[in-house]
Amino acid sequence: MKAERSLREIVSRSSLLVVLLLLTGTAEAEDGYRLWLRYDALPARALRAYRPLVTSVVVQGRSATLDAARAELVEGCAGLLGRPIPSADRVGRDGAIVVGTPKSSPLIDGLGWTRQLDALGAEGFLIRSVRLRGRAVTVIASEGEAGALYGAFHFLRLMQTLRPVGNLNVSERPRLQLRVLDHWDNLDGTIERGYAGRSLWDWKTLPDVIDPRLRDYARANASVGVNGSVLNNVNASSQSLGVEYLRKTAAVADAFRPYGIRVYLAAHFSAPIELGGLKTADPLDAEVAAWWKGKAEEIYRLIPDFGGFLVKANSEGQPGPRTYKRTHAEGANVLAAALAPHGGVCIWRAFVYDADTDYDRAAAAYDSLQPSDGRFAPNVLLQVKNGPIDFQPREPFHPLFGSMPKTQVMLEVQITQEYLGQSNNLVFLAPMWREVLDSDTYAKGKGSTVARVIDGSLFGGRITGMAGVANTGSDRNWTGHHFAQANWYAFGRLAWNPGTPSRRIAGEWAEMTFTHGRAALKTVARVMLESHEAAVDYMTPLGLHHLMWGGHHYGPAPWWDAEPRADWNPVTYHRADAVGVGYDRTKTGSNSVRQYHPPARERFSDLKTCPEKFLLWFHHVPWDYRVRSGRTLWDELATHYQRGVSWVRRADAGWDSLAGAVDAERHAEVSKKLALQERDAAWWRDACLLYFQTFSKRRLPAGVEGPRMTLEEFKARSLLD
Ligand code: GCU
Repeated sequence: MKAERSLREIVSRSSLLVVLLLLTGTAEAEDGYRLWLRYDALPARALRAYRPLVTSVVVQGRSATLDAARAELVEGCAGLLGRPIPSADRVGRDGAIVVGTPKSSPLIDGLGWTRQLDALGAEGFLIRSVRLRGRAVTVIASEGEAGALYGAFHFLRLMQTLRPVGNLNVSERPRLQLRVLDHWDNLDGTIERGYAGRSLWDWKTLPDVIDPRLRDYARANASVGVNGSVLNNVNASSQSLGVEYLRKTAAVADAFRPYGIRVYLAAHFSAPIELGGLKTADPLDAEVAAWWKGKAEEIYRLIPDFGGFLVKANSEGQPGPRTYKRTHAEGANVLAAALAPHGGVCIWRAFVYDADTDYDRAAAAYDSLQPSDGRFAPNVLLQVKNGPIDFQPREPFHPLFGSMPKTQVMLEVQITQEYLGQSNNLVFLAPMWREVLDSDTYAKGKGSTVARVIDGSLFGGRITGMAGVANTGSDRNWTGHHFAQANWYAFGRLAWNPGTPSRRIAGEWAEMTFTHGRAALKTVARVMLESHEAAVDYMTPLGLHHLMWGGHHYGPAPWWDAEPRADWNPVTYHRADAVGVGYDRTKTGSNSVRQYHPPARERFSDLKTCPEKFLLWFHHVPWDYRVRSGRTLWDELATHYQRGVSWVRRADAGWDSLAGAVDAERHAEVSKKLALQERDAAWWRDACLLYFQTFSKRRLPAGVEGPRMTLEEFKARSLLD
């Protein structure tokens, strides 16, 4: 009896707690799990405007993707509008949101939009305010179900960002076909260059257990149009292609399919030896070709919509066709031939550099791949990193863009911040990616931008794409830093349309993620938009690059010269001496500037016309050289470092001022990270300036703060110790 009563008491007390939590609105922890897909009630004015326009969700027909669209809209609209929104089979009143394809929905079929929908393709969509059966409704239509789902997310985003939805005439289609996240996830659950916990795929329990988080990952991707995931590290294990792991991969593919996401696998070039027991992986060997063919057949039996292979070959110790004295095209084509009958692609990475000692690593990929232009099979894409070295804070565009007119070239960017403060520094990457996308290769005269190379409009590639090295992991907030979520978001938005302005991406994301307050939004967007330039200032200004600590790549170590390969050492790249600093890549140096088309080549070559942001990338410049500001190079360098540090302090103050405008939990977490960022920025400034000062022998200019430790102390301690 006593036990019974106390149980009742516990139950009623805990329901009271639930009610209290609901009333105070703290039932949902503000831990960042929901990403930008937060469907909390909108401000009162928006509710008044939207409620009559959104009264029911009408998704006719059933399929996993249509069900996903229906569920997202019903939940999203109900949350945003603060009241239940029913799902219905027909339009019974004003305010229905009608979603689907002409095939799935007689209502949409009856609209006669076939021609327009055809033109937008299976992933494009129309959203229009129309009258249907005498009712004012919103139609979200696509030729394909994935397009209808993308349209549903677009509609939700309009409300999340308080845009008008009463008189819509939206027409969207992705400019790039493959919009892929590359996960550098290992089979043991670790992630190479991952800073947000462990892999989201639990290989140990797959295929029996499907973590519900996989669905949320897929939803987030679909909401920004990402349609592919490479599940494993480019430094691949052959085991990924073994039957046990293929079954696990198939289970992940099943979880992603409703959201329009195809899975891909990184393939190890020696798999025919390691897995197939063959003596060679020579791509011209008939048995090897047959092995890949059989492997592809096995994969497609398990995963009928498998995307294809991603390959890192002859790079950083990986095997590849050159191991057998074959070209990269010969290597790529054997895998491509195996995939072709099933509609798969072979994505071949251009991140290739040699072990020779006396060479410029920035020139290596072009030198080994450019001669293969025109030799790749039609289902091969060459995946080129944004710059010729390796995801440095800033690099000029990779010269292979614009130099492979007969090859389908896709762009690879790094979302995970390997060289950009990992998950401790707030660095919004859209402006960095836009800088590359907008760079003019001059391959076919002015206006031959990287964006036009990758969208196929310059050279006419049939398959187009963009890949981002993912920053996701098992951390509750997915990306370690709350603001790193914005980079995942930005990747999707730019892969959908490389012309999307960074300002719009920042504004959308901040409003969906943090607040509708105009003043607060302005502050958040400003911090985001300035952050990349600031990070370049405090890490590698004026074209410096590769100054980071060896191995973990966190923090500065410009003095580093102990790597087994010279091209992993910072001293190789900055070349500081008594005369000056910087890498001469003009005719008097490595001459890798030759790989660019005129007039970019001439502009980079001439010290007078070289953009200052790339000065030390292309030139070895004397310490007393006068830059455009009128300062000497030394003073300018020091000024940039100081500017970067000062920016972090301003950003921190700006963020502080948002206390109350942003929930306390995330506000405090971001504040902590900004404090680390200030420490890191000052560390970069001090370590780099102290070290370069040993060559320049000049004093710090006025306004630049003195170092907090000696050079020897910096050398002895890495930021990660
Ligand atoms: C960088 C990174 C490696 C990665 C490589 C790649 O060098 O540090 O971890 O494997 O890029 O892109 O293949």
